[in-house]
Amino acid sequence: MSLQDFLSTLDGLEEEASAAFETACDADTLEAARVRFLGQKSGALRDVQKRMGSIDKADRKTAGMRLNQFKSNVQEALENAKTRLGGDDSTGADPTFDPSLPGRRPSIGHIHPVTQTMTHLMEIMGRMGFEAAEGPEVEDPWHNFVALNIPEDHPARDPLDNFYLATAATGTNDRNVEGSQLLRSQTSTVQIRVMEDKQPPIRVISLGRVYRPDAPDATHFPMFHQMEGLLVDKNVTMANLKTVLRVFATNYLGDDVEIRFRPSFFPFTEPSVEVDFFWNGSWVEFGGAGMVDPAVFEAVGYDPEVYSGFAFGLGVERLCMRRHGITDIRDLYSGDLRFLQQF
Ligand code: PHE
Repeated sequence: MSLQDFLSTLDGLEEEASAAFETACDADTLEAARVRFLGQKSGALRDVQKRMGSIDKADRKTAGMRLNQFKSNVQEALENAKTRLGGDDSTGADPTFDPSLPGRRPSIGHIHPVTQTMTHLMEIMGRMGFEAAEGPEVEDPWHNFVALNIPEDHPARDPLDNFYLATAATGTNDRNVEGSQLLRSQTSTVQIRVMEDKQPPIRVISLGRVYRPDAPDATHFPMFHQMEGLLVDKNVTMANLKTVLRVFATNYLGDDVEIRFRPSFFPFTEPSVEVDFFWNGSWVEFGGAGMVDPAVFEAVGYDPEVYSGFAFGLGVERLCMRRHGITDIRDLYSGDLRFLQQF
């Protein structure tokens, strides 16, 4: 092919393509024109490019420059056409584009009601000077039982009431082997971890997950959350405990809450109580509490003659459910957004 022929072919093609782009009345027509002239597989440009090889070596440079110019001109015409069609409805833009439609709202995450509750509880306790403390969910028997004065033969250590883990180290979930581990069954483990770490005065709360192999029903779930509180100092009394819990309850549920202690037993507190709140016409048990047992102080190396303290453990789901009128704990963990988005 001679250079002359090549150049005039390009001239003609450029005119044709620009005209086709300029007169395209909608996105589909424009796209069809683009494929016809610039398409990778069988477009006109491709055919011309193929013929470059047959041009005299001496003329190839001129041919190449013209080809580049062609490409950029045609590309520009195409871009102009796109802008024209996209920008102005009246010239026949894509009929499926309706600028009057409301935008699509991106779906953004939502904080789970139990997490919201924990943030709220932490805030209330923070105002009373309690700092947040944390402990692991996979625990050893020392922190979950032994240091909490729960002896070897205590029913709370039964495999039917705990998730003992088979680990690489033990190779078994037998609770009696050295190095056995379990999912913590209570946040009281964090009391031990805090006291092993620091000296009094101590004023902490710990919010987190605990695990017990209960069959799920309206009030039980194998994983739930507790708020543990621990205060250790000189001359701490049960009256301090009751005041802290009353202030907490009135802040969380409202001024009309009443609080009631019922005698109970926990190996790590003496005396021990069950904590009930009266609100909206009924008494509900929210957890346990008591004065830290001297045996626990001894386990962490505190002198029980010098220090005293109280501890409490409340059910987070119960607080959340009571405040929001939720009647089935399973709803909280169903993953059903229609339920969760209400909070
Ligand atoms: N750990 C106890 C439970 O899970 C609650 C508790 C905490 C009781 C602290 C007394 C003191 O039932």
